Amino acid sequence: EMDEFISGLMDKMTLREKLGQLNLPAGGDLTTGTVQNSNLAEMIRKQELGGFFNVMSVEKIRELQRIAVEETRLGIPLVVGADVIHGYQTIFPIPLALACSWDTLATERMAQISAKEATANGIAWTFSPMVDICRDARWGRIAEGNGEDPFIGAMMARAYVRGYQGENLHESDSSMMACLKHFALYGASESGRDYNRTDMSRVQMLNEYLPPYQAAVKAGVGTVMTSFNTINGVPATADKWLIDDVLRKQWGFKGMIVTDYNSIAEMEIHGVAPLKEAGIMAMNAGTDMDMVAQSFLNPMEEAVNEGKVSKARIDEACRRVLEMKYKLGLFENPYKYCNVERAQTETYSEANRAEARRIAAETFVLMKNENQLLPLAMKGRIALIGPMADAANNMCGMWSPTCDPSRHSSLLERLRAATKGKAEILYAKGSNVYYDAGMEAGAVGGRTLQRGDNQKLYAEAMAVASRADVIVAAVGECAEMTGESASRTDIRIPDAQRHLLEGLVKTGKPVVVLLFTGRPLDLTWESEHVPAILNVWFGGSETGDAVADVLFGKTVPSGKLTTTFPRTVGQLPLYYSQTTTGRPDGDPTTFNRFMSNYIDCPNDGLYPFGYGLSYTTFEYGEMKLSSETLPKGGNITVTVPVKNTGNYDGTEIVQLYIHDQYADIARPVKELKDFRRITLKKGESQAVTFTLTEDDLKYYNADLVYKYDAGAFQVMVGPNSRDVQSASFNAE
Ligand code: IFM
Repeated sequence: EMDEFISGLMDKMTLREKLGQLNLPAGGDLTTGTVQNSNLAEMIRKQELGGFFNVMSVEKIRELQRIAVEETRLGIPLVVGADVIHGYQTIFPIPLALACSWDTLATERMAQISAKEATANGIAWTFSPMVDICRDARWGRIAEGNGEDPFIGAMMARAYVRGYQGENLHESDSSMMACLKHFALYGASESGRDYNRTDMSRVQMLNEYLPPYQAAVKAGVGTVMTSFNTINGVPATADKWLIDDVLRKQWGFKGMIVTDYNSIAEMEIHGVAPLKEAGIMAMNAGTDMDMVAQSFLNPMEEAVNEGKVSKARIDEACRRVLEMKYKLGLFENPYKYCNVERAQTETYSEANRAEARRIAAETFVLMKNENQLLPLAMKGRIALIGPMADAANNMCGMWSPTCDPSRHSSLLERLRAATKGKAEILYAKGSNVYYDAGMEAGAVGGRTLQRGDNQKLYAEAMAVASRADVIVAAVGECAEMTGESASRTDIRIPDAQRHLLEGLVKTGKPVVVLLFTGRPLDLTWESEHVPAILNVWFGGSETGDAVADVLFGKTVPSGKLTTTFPRTVGQLPLYYSQTTTGRPDGDPTTFNRFMSNYIDCPNDGLYPFGYGLSYTTFEYGEMKLSSETLPKGGNITVTVPVKNTGNYDGTEIVQLYIHDQYADIARPVKELKDFRRITLKKGESQAVTFTLTEDDLKYYNADLVYKYDAGAFQVMVGPNSRDVQSASFNAE
C-alpha cells in the first residue's frame, strides 16, 4: 500500500521536486522571527525542502506545514525534527547518567514521555539516540552516550528506539521517529577533541564500537545520522563501506540516512572535495538527506544532468524520505503532531515530572560513603555550599534546548522545601565555577561572564560552614563544560572549587560532595579527603527533588558506572575491557619494569566500570555453573545467590563477564555479557541465574568472520567489573 502510494506520487514529481525532498534546513531566523517573512516559508513555497528542524513553537510549525500542504503544487507534508535528547520540557538525566541506572525500562519510559511531549508540540522526529561508545573522558559528548561498553550500549540503544517509536508509529500520535547517531565512531575522536578524526581497525569497530548501532537497527530505528569525523581518512558522511556495505547490506537497514549538520560542506574543509563533489560522494555512498549544506539541491541537479549521479539513486533517496513521512502518518494528517491542546495539558505535566524525579534518583552513583555519612538525618543545620547549589538553569545539563529553564527550581529551593520545619538549610555560593574562565553555572551560553570575587565568596562560605552541623558541597562541572564542543584536558573539578572543598574539609565537619558532571572526572583528591561522594551527573528538571530523595534516604541509591573514572587524565583512553597484553601487570601496587604498566600510576581506574555503592550492603554467595561444558547449540547456566545484608531495602545490579582464554586474536580481559537489576528487601536473598549460549562467545576475527572458539572460557560474576569471582567452562 505504501509502495503504491509513493510510486504514484513520485510519478508526478519532477527531478527538482525530488531533490527538494532531500534538503533539511535548520530553523534559523524562526527562533525569533515570524513565519510569513521567513526564509523557511520562502523555501517551502519553492519546494526546496523535505522538512526542517529546531523550530520550537507548535504554532509556527503548524503554519509552515500549512504552507507546504496548501501553497505548493503537490502539497507534500514536511517532516519536522528536533534534538529531543533527554526530554522535551520535562527533562530527564543526561544519557550517560540514564545508562548508569542500567534500567532499560526506565530509559524506554523516558523516551516515551519525551515523544509524548514533543509530538504534541509539532516534532515528529528526534535526533536521538546517540549511541557512540566513548572511552575518553576528555570528549565533552561522552555525556550524550551510554559510556564505554558495547553490551550496555546496545541494551540502551534498543530501549531508546522502543520508547520513542512505540509499537505503531503510523497509528499513534504520541510516538516519534528516532534517529540513530552518529554513524559512526564519533565517540572515538582522537585525543578526545571534538570533530577530530577516528582511526580504527575494522576488528575493533565490529567488536567494540558498532554493536549499539546494530542493536538500534535491529530494534527498527527509522533513520540514521552520519557523523562529523573521518574514519581512517574517509569522512563518515561519504563512507560507502560503512553506509552501504555494513548498514544497508549486512544489517539490512531500510530507513532514511541524514547527514549531520553541514557535514557535506565540511568535507571541503577536510580537504576531500568541494561542495558539489562532496555531495556526489555522499549521495553515491548512500546518504539520503542533507542537513543544512544544501548540496543535494542545485549542485545535485547539475550532477544528475552530467550523469555523475543516477536518477535511480535520487529516486531511492526521495522514496526513503517519503516513506518516512508515510510511516509517520503525515500524508493522512499533516497536522498530526501539532496538537495545541495536548501541548497544553501533556507537556511538563505532574505525572511526567514525577517519573523524571524517580528516574533521576536511579541514575545517581554513590561513589564513597565513609561511616555511612549518607543518608543525612533531616535535622539541625545543613550548609549547602557551591556554585551548583543555587543554579536552576544548570540542572539539566547539555542538550536540552526544548525546555524552559525558568520553570525549574534550584537544588537550594527543593532542599529547603523538603526539609521545611525539620532542618535548616544554610547557603553560600562559595566559589565561581572557575577562577577566571568565563563559564558559569546556569548562565545560558555563558561565556561572557565577569570574574567573580572568589576570595569574598570563599570567606562567606567558611562563615556559613562554621555554623553548620554537616556540609553538602554542590560542585563539579557546569552544563556549559559538557556536551558538544566541550573537550577538556584537565578533568578535575576546577581549581576554584577544589580550593573551596579544601577549606570545607579543613573545618573538620562532615562533608558530602554532591558531584555535578557530564564526564568521568579525576576524583583522586576528593576520594582521599572527602568522606562521602554522591555523583548526581545532571539529573534534569527534577534534580532538586531527586537529590532530596536520595540525600535523606527516601530513595536508596542504586546507580553503577558505565564509564570508568580514571585516576588521572594521563590514563585516557581508559576502559575495563582492555585486550590482553603479552606482559600483563601482575602486581598493580608497584611499578614493574618491562610489564605493561606506568611508572607513576596503576593501570586501573579509581572507580571501575560497573561500580556504585548503596546505603545497604549486598553479599554474594558462591557462583555455580550448571555444567563445565557449554555444548554445541546448547547453553550453560550460572547461578549466584545475592543477599541484602544491610539496613535498607535496595536495588543491586548483578553483572556477568566472560574471558576467552585462547582466541584467533587477543581478546578483552573481561567483557560484560549480561546483568540483572534486582530489588531486595533487607535480609532478603535471591538466586540470580544467567544463561550463556554460543552467541555470547562470538566475536569478529582478523578476517572479519563472526565466530566463537571451542575451548576454555572464564565466567566472572560480581557487583562491578573489579570485584568478581570467577569459574571456568569449556565450549564444545
Ligand atoms: O543532532 C545534532 C547532532 O548531534 C550534532 N550536530 C547538529 C545536529 C542537529 O542539531
